[in-house]
Amino acid sequence: MTSALAQPVLSADSLTKSFSTFTAVRGASIDIHSGEVVAIIGPNGAGKTTFFDLLTGRKIPDSGTVRIFGKDVTRMPPWRRVRLGLARSFQVSSVFGTLSALENVQLGIALAKRQAWHPFGLAVRRHRDHAAALLEEVGLADRLHLPAGKLSHGDQRSLELAVALSSNPRILLLDEPTAGMGVAESAECLEHISAITRKNDIPILFVEHDMSIVFSFATRIVVLAAGEVIMNGSPAEVRANERVREVYFGENL
Ligand SMILES: Nc1ncnc2c1ncn2[C@@H]1O[C@H](COP(=O)(O)OP(=O)(O)OP(=O)(O)O)[C@@H](O)[C@H]1O
Ligand SMILES: [Mg+2]
Repeated sequence: MTSALAQPVLSADSLTKSFSTFTAVRGASIDIHSGEVVAIIGPNGAGKTTFFDLLTGRKIPDSGTVRIFGKDVTRMPPWRRVRLGLARSFQVSSVFGTLSALENVQLGIALAKRQAWHPFGLAVRRHRDHAAALLEEVGLADRLHLPAGKLSHGDQRSLELAVALSSNPRILLLDEPTAGMGVAESAECLEHISAITRKNDIPILFVEHDMSIVFSFATRIVVLAAGEVIMNGSPAEVRANERVREVYFGENL
């Protein structure tokens, strides 16, 4: 169980980010503790990806603070946050299509260990077993040698997850991990993700549009609307919240 007194793995305090005169994220705060699976939901353009970018360092907030295990990382570049244990996957797939699934993960491990200068062949031999184990965790054990570009869309997302895990993260941020997947495939993907959280005690923050997925897997839900966190609570609290119902008017929560 998480305790209110435990240090959050990741916390954001009052983040604001504007693009010229438009404020995409306004005073948004969040705390993520060990063991949590936190979903960020909100209508299109609510600021979910921008909020993610502020947490990962792709964008720097105009004001507010981001901390990883209490350390201020607000102005730290993404690669340094990765070293502190923050891993992310993107809304758009980012694997190397001509490399095999195994090679993609081996390369991820080599990069995380700062061995990118090694001839690739050497990196490949070094991290074979570790990479195969990660691929097994995401359900790709029988597709190790297929070129990533030949994998189904869902399997590519799973591969991305294995690549994200290759940096030995202490928290995983996933922007729409099930984008483009069918219902069954989405549930299977989240099943793998939740299993990874339970097994390795890695908390997860994920953006998701499909409410059935959100309510099946999230231990906590953060609702963004027009850049603001309008609700942060358990699935039951979110479902019962009047403002959330207004934002999702017509949807079956
Ligand atoms: N670089 C940018 N310059 C100007 N406006 C931007 C920029 N990035 C995002 N925005 C605007 O900020 C708002 C929030 O965008 P963001 O991508 O964070 O939303 P989102 O909740 O992730 O949406 P979606 O559900 O469609 O992925 C949108 O109105 C978008 O047009
Ligand atoms: Mg987005």
